[in-house]
Amino acid sequence: MDDLKNIFVTGGAGFIGSAFVRLLLEELPDARVVNFDALTYAGNPDNLKDIHEERHRFVRGDICDKGAVLAALDEGTDVLVNFAAESHVDRSIHSADEFIRTNVLGTQVLLDAARARGVRRFVQVSTDEVMGSLPDRDDAYFTEDSPFEPNSPYSASKAAAEHLCRAAHHTHKLDVVTTRCGNNYGPRQFPEKFLPLMLSNAFADQSIPVYGDGRNVRDWIYVEDHCRAIYDVMTEGRAGHVYNVGARNERRNLEVAESVLDALGKPRTLIKFVKDRPGHDQRYAIDPSKIETELGWRPRETWETGLAKTVRWYRENADWVARTRSGAYRDYYAKQYGTV
Ligand SMILES: NC(=O)c1ccc[n+]([C@@H]2O[C@H](COP(=O)([O-])OP(=O)(O)OC[C@H]3O[C@@H](n4cnc5c(N)ncnc54)[C@H](O)[C@@H]3O)[C@@H](O)[C@H]2O)c1
Repeated sequence: MDDLKNIFVTGGAGFIGSAFVRLLLEELPDARVVNFDALTYAGNPDNLKDIHEERHRFVRGDICDKGAVLAALDEGTDVLVNFAAESHVDRSIHSADEFIRTNVLGTQVLLDAARARGVRRFVQVSTDEVMGSLPDRDDAYFTEDSPFEPNSPYSASKAAAEHLCRAAHHTHKLDVVTTRCGNNYGPRQFPEKFLPLMLSNAFADQSIPVYGDGRNVRDWIYVEDHCRAIYDVMTEGRAGHVYNVGARNERRNLEVAESVLDALGKPRTLIKFVKDRPGHDQRYAIDPSKIETELGWRPRETWETGLAKTVRWYRENADWVARTRSGAYRDYYAKQYGTV
């Protein structure tokens, strides 16, 4: 797909979406980007503070609001990239309502709007979690053909969204491509998520909560590598196809906590095991062979370089962390972890 001039990004004030908007502005110097985001608790205008390009237009709006989406989505939009979602598993366990509304209903609204406006391609940013959990063996991997077995309300809502995307492609011939990625880390991740939670707690010499026995395995990828994969799928992926995205970087949660403390020079005694998450998936591990062989994508960061960049960003942006950790986030934090 070439000659991309108008891109519509949803959820571009969040962690991954804001990194993707930066990448788009860099990679496509002639393109205009509309960034459509409701600014929920996870959407942070601070994430866009350093973008001064006139080619970037921020529109505050809800993807479930058909009228607002249609009003912001110009005829002649080449691609719609959908990041907007409720994205935190723990929150979906407390209440699934918003997950169904945004992740399911909102995706259908976007698919319909994309068809109505003649959008050339729809990119759905999905997650490996739709495929459930793998056994704790290092020869088991998620491929694009793995069955859907979502285990949390979050992953179930993302799986439902993927089904709607598939149906829009099959029935209405909308050009849809989907990415399924593992755990992202990097700058500007809301500190309810595992890695920034550990970083911000460790900076403040507070304990680091690790669920259960810490043996759960996640497949970690630096956020910019994920964004480059989405970019490659957007420009070169085959219509109707799903691409798994992973950096072949599986780590146990306890090992991740130890790496963070070591990188900060903090004692491992800060680790505190807390009651496990209900239905906690044991292991995620992605086989990224398809995107590697078909599109030539490779991650640029190793775990060590990506973690070093992340630590540096959080160290240099203590004010971002302080603002993000205040207010609504604090209430949520107390409810989730008590006073660890
Ligand atoms: N974080 C990860 O590790 C990861 C891994 C794989 C896939 N994903 C997917 O990537 C996408 C982005 O994840 P993230 O970690 O950046 O999430 P995030 O929670 O940081 O950001 C989500 C953004 O969506 C916006 N949003 C939420 N509801 C909206 C609505 N109804 N209308 C418009 N905007 C709305 C929020 O304001 C926020 O800016 C999600 O779809 C998520 O499922 C995330």
